[in-house]
Amino acid sequence: MDGMNHSTVSEFVFLGLTNSWEIQLPLFVFSCLFYLAGMMGNLVIVFTITLDVHLHSPMYFLLANLSVIDMFFCSITAPKMIYDIFKKHKAISFCGCITQIFFTHAVGAAEMVLLITMAFDRYVAICKPLHYLTIMSPRMCLYFLVTSWIVGFIHSLIQLVFVVDLPFCGPNVLDSFYCDLPRLLRLACTNTLELEFMVIVNSGLISVGSFVLLVISYIFILFTVWKHSSGGSYKALSTLSAHIIVVVLFFGPLMFFYTWPSPTSHLDKYLAIFDAFITPFLNPVIYTFRNKEMKMAIKRLCSRLGHYRKIS
Ligand SMILES: *[C@@H]1O[C@H](CO)[C@@H](O)[C@H](O)[C@H]1NC(C)=O
Repeated sequence: MDGMNHSTVSEFVFLGLTNSWEIQLPLFVFSCLFYLAGMMGNLVIVFTITLDVHLHSPMYFLLANLSVIDMFFCSITAPKMIYDIFKKHKAISFCGCITQIFFTHAVGAAEMVLLITMAFDRYVAICKPLHYLTIMSPRMCLYFLVTSWIVGFIHSLIQLVFVVDLPFCGPNVLDSFYCDLPRLLRLACTNTLELEFMVIVNSGLISVGSFVLLVISYIFILFTVWKHSSGGSYKALSTLSAHIIVVVLFFGPLMFFYTWPSPTSHLDKYLAIFDAFITPFLNPVIYTFRNKEMKMAIKRLCSRLGHYRKIS
């Protein structure tokens, strides 16, 4: 990489969340638990939806894809953070740092587009039920999916193109447990005011814009459900509220990082735990425990597995 030549910093050092041993131990235990539970939960969702023909509908395909994205997302920063917790010197190479930033932004933006697609899917299902199968055809779903990944990668590339060539010559300490742009830009030894502005515009606008779009579409859907309130509306409301909880949990911390003018407080470091661990873990909890069809499908899957075991 060309940027390496004129930068004298070859690695960055994380301060991590805490230095005190009494906190590190529970932190380690909880992060491991949340990470493993999140991976398992999302895997169960993907397997259940893939193996159960009752769940072969656009809504569940999108949900399975959300689970895949969540597994990616929590595997970018969480394993490294867990691995680092007890280390005195928590270092990451320049390339490692850039890679982390690239994937958090690519996967994060893909997740945003996917959440918008899921809202659109509910909008069509509830407001235009007669056209649902024609609008949300398998081809259309695939198209949305590919779009979300392309948007993610383009968004991430645009930001990194400017960062890769920045000179880093001075301090290399990041008060965080993962690499992200606002903090990294502060370490560059040139004036990065314009770049910081670009990050706020790029990441901030995307997250706030998507959030506003989602809130408006959910208000619209809720209004429609309320107007035509009948037998099916309870089920619709429970699906919608699950979506809304996920959206708020995912976007809340992100909007705070990228629109807050100065990343000097410690608050955003702790908020980052939400997006790194809790949201990927909560998605399966919210979607499966509140969803009767998912629960039934998991039961069917378990009894099928038990059946195979008896045969072999
Ligand atoms: C993701 O969505 C596509 C398009 O609907 C679907 O074909 C695919 O099976 C989904 N992926 C998973 C893991 O379910």
